Amino acid sequence: MPASDRRLVAIYPGSFDPLTNGHLDLISRGARLFDNLIVAILSNSQKHAALFDIAERTQMIRDATSAFPNVEVDSFQGLLVDYAAHRNANAILRGIRAISDYETELQMALINRRMRPETETIFLMAGEEYSFISSRLIKEIVTLGGDVSTFVPNAVADRLRAKFSR
Ligand code: PNS
Repeated sequence: MPASDRRLVAIYPGSFDPLTNGHLDLISRGARLFDNLIVAILSNSQKHAALFDIAERTQMIRDATSAFPNVEVDSFQGLLVDYAAHRNANAILRGIRAISDYETELQMALINRRMRPETETIFLMAGEEYSFISSRLIKEIVTLGGDVSTFVPNAVADRLRAKFSR
């Protein structure tokens, strides 16, 4: 098959509770590299106290990524490698913000590669202007009454305002 006929499909998995500008930056980089990028929200998360349910997260990510025609938003349960097999993905995309991310990311990438060598994990460096943003901190700030509108896409900021102005 000529190289140009080969479609590169990547999954960008995460909790995305909520999507941040850092995630969006990685999605825009991934959309340039891959033919198809599937943003996949983990729906069997052990993390309690989710701010948004899966339907809300899906809608916010769809709104925030509507400018990227090759980006799809989906959710999955179970093992990421099983979902990658189901979606015929060549790659798992993950972002690295700082050296502190490296250890867990390395562990996940190696275990996923052991379980499914056909799918490579590809790391992109987050844009330095987003390197301090995390969903965990966004959640903390917003529940304590702070303004996070410069850290998240408009679609997310609107939802947060609606949720917390009640
Ligand atoms: O945004 P997060 O919370 O850092 O994303 C973590 C995620 C969803 C990528 C990771 O928890 C995951 O892949 N979970 C699915 C279950 C799984 O496959 N576990 C084994 C290998 S990590």
